[in-house]
Amino acid sequence: MNCTPKFPSPRRNLAYTQEDFHFCHLLTKTRRRVGKSCSQDQTASQRLPCKMGSVSMATPVQELATDGQDPSERYNYGGSGGGALNASVPLVEIPTVDVGRLISSPSAANHELQKLSLALSSWGCFQVVNHGMTNSFVDRVHEISKQFFDLPKEEKHRYIREPDSIEGYGTDMIVAENQTLDWIDRLYLTLNPPNHVQLKFWPEKPETFREVLHEYSTKLQVLHDVMLKAMAKSLKLDESVFLRMIGEPVIMSARFNFYPPCPRPDQVLGLKPHSDGTVITFLLQDKEVEGLQVLKDGQWFRVPVIPDALVLNAGEHLEIMSNGEFKSPIHRAVVNSERKRISLAAPSIPHDGNEIEPVEGLVSEERPRLFRKMKYNGRTHLRYYQSGRRVVDDARI
Ligand code: OGA
Ligand code: NI
Repeated sequence: MNCTPKFPSPRRNLAYTQEDFHFCHLLTKTRRRVGKSCSQDQTASQRLPCKMGSVSMATPVQELATDGQDPSERYNYGGSGGGALNASVPLVEIPTVDVGRLISSPSAANHELQKLSLALSSWGCFQVVNHGMTNSFVDRVHEISKQFFDLPKEEKHRYIREPDSIEGYGTDMIVAENQTLDWIDRLYLTLNPPNHVQLKFWPEKPETFREVLHEYSTKLQVLHDVMLKAMAKSLKLDESVFLRMIGEPVIMSARFNFYPPCPRPDQVLGLKPHSDGTVITFLLQDKEVEGLQVLKDGQWFRVPVIPDALVLNAGEHLEIMSNGEFKSPIHRAVVNSERKRISLAAPSIPHDGNEIEPVEGLVSEERPRLFRKMKYNGRTHLRYYQSGRRVVDDARI
């Protein structure tokens, strides 16, 4: 196998920081004792469900969903966001941006840059089309995603996420006892830089998985550069200004999202409303099953599936760097009772310790600085999603 990174780095130190515990404490309003990790001699799959101090994991939803029973109370959002059935939510054409044009003659590129900037300042997202990946390649990406989740559970459990880690297969972290759970399983893998890749979590089945994902990752990194440069240019800034601030090489991961059908789609959410604590997120939606909804001016809209397009979501760090010119949209994923849905999100994040703040050219007397400087800390941000906390709110002046 010559296409996957060969030297995955040793496991990072997974100890929690003071800050994590402080935050958990705030979240649960109870002081919890830091528990011991699960006993070392258990296999990963025997450990489910398992608790580690304030963090625990649940049984993959796919395994719950097979018996056709109504979801337990733990998944019930009741009136607070569940019930997001498609019929009541209008479908909207979010803007498209054509990458071929972005990198072509200056006049065509200028028009496309304007579209891009308008899309990010109004919706915070757009559909990336003509991105250079062939339809048959994108199909292969869909195929490996589907084949992985179709594997027997024992096979998937070989890649189970450890309770205190983010990578691997399983449900999301449970950080509070009263946390409503999302109707989703994930496979989370670091893509770049190569020395952060933990190959032990990269499935060996289907056989093409690693090769296809590696190729997808290589292509996305190029696209990531093109997009961040275009974003800077569209704001009349030096094209590398965002890339410099987040740090190079780009840190990117893949989150395969699996939403099993649910007998009560009116009660659960695949993903609760959130904005991405990222720089940007590329999202390859399921080709056939819709489920992504975005909030604009207080109203939810369904995002249509454009086969082979990638949805690009502005992350909260892009909102901060652009001094609020670009918006990081609040979005959610809904599920349905008949069909499973699989999406593949590829978020990029700043380097740990990098300082993220509005870039110089976007702060002036007429445009006061909206956000203070934030030092990026990946481990802290992990918990933001579960608690409904937003980086932009913390950073706002
Ligand atoms: C995400 C996300 C939406 C979807 O992974 O952050 O918002 O449609 N996914 O799966
Ligand atoms: Ni998201």
